[in-house]
Amino acid sequence: FAILDLRESLLSWYAQGGRDLPWRQQRDPYPIWISEIMLQQTQVKTVIPYYHRWLERFPTLISLAESSQQDVLKLWQGLGYYARARNLHACARAIVQDYDGSFPRTLEAALALPGIGRTTAGGILSAAFNLPLPILDGNVKRIFARLIGLRVPPAKAMKLLWQCSEVLLDPENPRDFNQALMDLGATLCTPKAPECSRCPWMAHCQAYQLQMQADLPMRETS
Ligand code: ADE
Repeated sequence: FAILDLRESLLSWYAQGGRDLPWRQQRDPYPIWISEIMLQQTQVKTVIPYYHRWLERFPTLISLAESSQQDVLKLWQGLGYYARARNLHACARAIVQDYDGSFPRTLEAALALPGIGRTTAGGILSAAFNLPLPILDGNVKRIFARLIGLRVPPAKAMKLLWQCSEVLLDPENPRDFNQALMDLGATLCTPKAPECSRCPWMAHCQAYQLQMQADLPMRETS
């Protein structure tokens, strides 16, 4: 069955070809949350030194909640999109107030925090608690658009793309499955010149079958 084959092939590719990133050794939601917010609009190689500096300066959620917004913004200097830093600080204070300092463990509670949308919530909760929650960032949209041969721009098919992410997600191992998707998008299923010959999903990929990799995902027409 295709779904089982897609899960298994992605996970075995990840076990061999996945990246060794600092937040992946973590199970504590606090550092995972910090990494996911940094990674929202910033590339992995830029994030890594900021991630380490952040955890040295604010080793726990409580220490972040007790810091001043000014200290937080200073540490964020250079990453851009400063609303992310203000939201992190506000979230830390809300989590101390409402959840006794422990990051919430449900999708609904995570979504209620400032700056956390469905993809970020799924990324955090699957990585920290192995909860079966799908993700759909830009890389993942591109993967699914190619896999299913999507003939409309991703923005016009968000419901379908979320369904892809939900249906394919491995309920046995959502943590590694989501991390593997991110790696596939970052390393093989790239916007330009994807390395289809190395892709674990080649045999199932509509774009590859039709040699449409360069044309998918379709661009927004403005
Ligand atoms: N982008 C967003 N989250 C990520 C993660 N956990 N690993 C790599 N890239 C990401």
